Amino acid sequence: MPSQITITRPDDWHLHVRDAQALDTVVPHTAAQFGRAIIMPNLRPPITTTAQALAYKQRILAAVPQGLDFEPLMTLYLTDSLPADEIVRAHDAGVVALKLYPAGATTHSDAGVTDLRKTYATLEAMQRLGMPLLVHGEVTSPEVDLFDREAVFIEQQLIPLRRDFPELKIVFEHITTQEAAQYVAEADRFVAATVTAHHLLFNRNALFTGGLRPHYYCLPVLKREVHRLALLQAVRSGSPKFFLGTDSAPHPAQLKEHASGCAGCYTAHAALEMYAEAFNAAGALDRLEGFASFHGPAFYGLARNSGSVTLKRESWVSPESFAFGQAQLKPLRGGESLPWRMV
Ligand code: NCD
Ligand code: ZN
Repeated sequence: MPSQITITRPDDWHLHVRDAQALDTVVPHTAAQFGRAIIMPNLRPPITTTAQALAYKQRILAAVPQGLDFEPLMTLYLTDSLPADEIVRAHDAGVVALKLYPAGATTHSDAGVTDLRKTYATLEAMQRLGMPLLVHGEVTSPEVDLFDREAVFIEQQLIPLRRDFPELKIVFEHITTQEAAQYVAEADRFVAATVTAHHLLFNRNALFTGGLRPHYYCLPVLKREVHRLALLQAVRSGSPKFFLGTDSAPHPAQLKEHASGCAGCYTAHAALEMYAEAFNAAGALDRLEGFASFHGPAFYGLARNSGSVTLKRESWVSPESFAFGQAQLKPLRGGESLPWRMV
């Protein structure tokens, strides 16, 4: 087994960095590992205009440490009323994609889409311009079991959407199930998916081991082992439809360790290390570079990064917490020993 691996500088195709002081904690972590990251627009209020996205991009860039070359790729938050002409403005200004949050599906999604049909003029413009729609693929109906929401989304929303917009580029974000992995693997070239490190490493037992473990709580929630194995199989296949998206989602520790704890796992401090661990355990370290550095740019129609990063098999202990404005940020597996380290 290799004890070291060097890959082309990778990108993170799904990331939350929040705003204001939080940026100073989390942006340096991502910029140390990745050349670019797709920035999720679920701020409060959400990023719904090109002008907001460009201003947000400048705030993120201001938090990039000297000497690191990092480009935030900006997105807009799709709402029931986002005008189609905003898509043209966004496209011209270099905004790369739009994010679909079904209203109520996850953190800061209350402004999300209540009915996809309300967005059809906007989706039409996106399809015409080749602008991808990044999908949080879960239905929100309370009658649907929380663990089934992704699979039901495919049937109820995604299949009809693809029928109506067959050439709209879609990224099924942070997939967590066998059903999603299979759907994407069998779909045409307009569909791809991101996979997080935590969904490759953990099943839902992690939420309950020795007590309730809020730092493992994210949406879509961790699933059964059979689903984790299906995700590993998907990334191990080398299919260009699957690429890296951490969904690193920082929250103040006191809001996660709470009677109604926030969804989101923070992994940006050790993202590549955790992916290397998952790929290595699956005997697929040779597939990491395609997944982390090649498949994403190919789908988005962007060049690969230049430069490289090296990961070494060398255990180290992840910090237990980081200062996060006035609060603390507790990363996933903080205080634990991790087997791979970026050098
Ligand atoms: C994300 C967040 O906190 O913004 N939370 C999460 O559990 N993944 C939102 C999201 O991507 O669903
Ligand atoms: Zn996310």
